[in-house]
Amino acid sequence: MPRVTPADGPVAVTGASGYVGSHVVLALVKRGYTVRACVTDSSNPRKTSCLIGLNQGGYPGRVELRTANLFREGDYDETFTECAAVLHVGAPLGYRGTNGPRQVYDGAVNGTGNVINSVKKSGNVKRVVYTSSFAAINHPEAPGYVFTEQDWASDNRLGDPAWTPDNIDRKPGIAYAMGKVASERMAFRMAAEDGRFDVISVCPSVVLGPLLSAANGLAGSWQYIVGKMLAGQPCTRGWQYLWNIVDVRDVAQAHALIVESDNCENGSRYQLTASDRAGELNVEELQTHLARLFPQINVGGPPKEYAEIVTRFGGPFDGPRAYCDRARTELGLKTHPVDDTLFETGRTMIEFGLVKPALK
Ligand SMILES: NC(=O)c1ccc[n+]([C@@H]2O[C@H](COP(=O)([O-])OP(=O)(O)OC[C@H]3O[C@@H](n4cnc5c(N)ncnc54)[C@H](OP(=O)(O)O)[C@@H]3O)[C@@H](O)[C@H]2O)c1
Repeated sequence: MPRVTPADGPVAVTGASGYVGSHVVLALVKRGYTVRACVTDSSNPRKTSCLIGLNQGGYPGRVELRTANLFREGDYDETFTECAAVLHVGAPLGYRGTNGPRQVYDGAVNGTGNVINSVKKSGNVKRVVYTSSFAAINHPEAPGYVFTEQDWASDNRLGDPAWTPDNIDRKPGIAYAMGKVASERMAFRMAAEDGRFDVISVCPSVVLGPLLSAANGLAGSWQYIVGKMLAGQPCTRGWQYLWNIVDVRDVAQAHALIVESDNCENGSRYQLTASDRAGELNVEELQTHLARLFPQINVGGPPKEYAEIVTRFGGPFDGPRAYCDRARTELGLKTHPVDDTLFETGRTMIEFGLVKPALK
């Protein structure tokens, strides 16, 4: 299917008020698109003001707010009419415990099904960018294994008792990964059967970088954990393995580049991960980087359980290792250095009042 440009019509973004979605809207407005920014509640200024505010930013494109819910069939029909591309970023996530594992799975699978069905009804959409996750790529592997877009989370699961549909109701991580695998495959299949549009997926790993809104420091998110460390508290997520870090601005830019790229086709996947080894940090390295970037702060480090891991395995697990080479080569993505990503995460968490730094 041909590439899309701003001249082809408006584009729609689901999950527009989210951490990633708000940056996707910004990237598209900067490129001159009229963006139909879909939120679940357009009357909540805490979530929408950063989107509406972009219309005062002097950008060539503009933002129109739309209301729709992934769980309601046909909710995106009207919004997608005339749209040339859809960027399906939104998903109910488990961050604040508001969504249980079943909702997370159903949000990915049924929600994406509803989005693609609305795309089909529109008849005008040529390209769908689907925000999947590195969770749809990552599977059990030996330390040091380097993942690529060829990998699926369902690989290497023979004899793995955790990888079973029975766990969708019980284990948030399994529900999330299974939901992303199933929805990616379903979306590619639906597009192939229809033949009028392509679905291209992106699979981000640990997304960090500047927040555009105070609403985006959700408890449990990676940016929230960085905030906790800047508050002098221990790291409570991902300390057992490497943080494979990608900048939220690069994730957003990749979405926009895919809309306009001649190199993508239905079923193309782009893992959005570290650019190189510098972006893969264990919890001690993460603490060291943050302490250097924020010299006035007593930065928290590994939790107390970390010592046992170090004794048993000699340090955190050496993985997941993965590099966004394909996005750099095929899309021309230019990436931010990890220090800039970490600094901007901390700076905006502090400036939005989401964290009280542990000043020395
Ligand atoms: N952040 C990461 O590290 C990371 C890594 C890999 C993949 N991803 C993927 O990136 C996407 C965005 O994640 P995020 O970190 O930006 O999360 P987020 O800040 O929580 O944003 C999620 C968005 O989804 C929307 N949403 C939730 N339930 C919905 C529903 N029922 N109907 C319509 N929209 C709904 C929310 O919209 P409202 O606010 O309007 O309710 C919100 O804007 C997700 O697909 C996630 O799986 C994120």
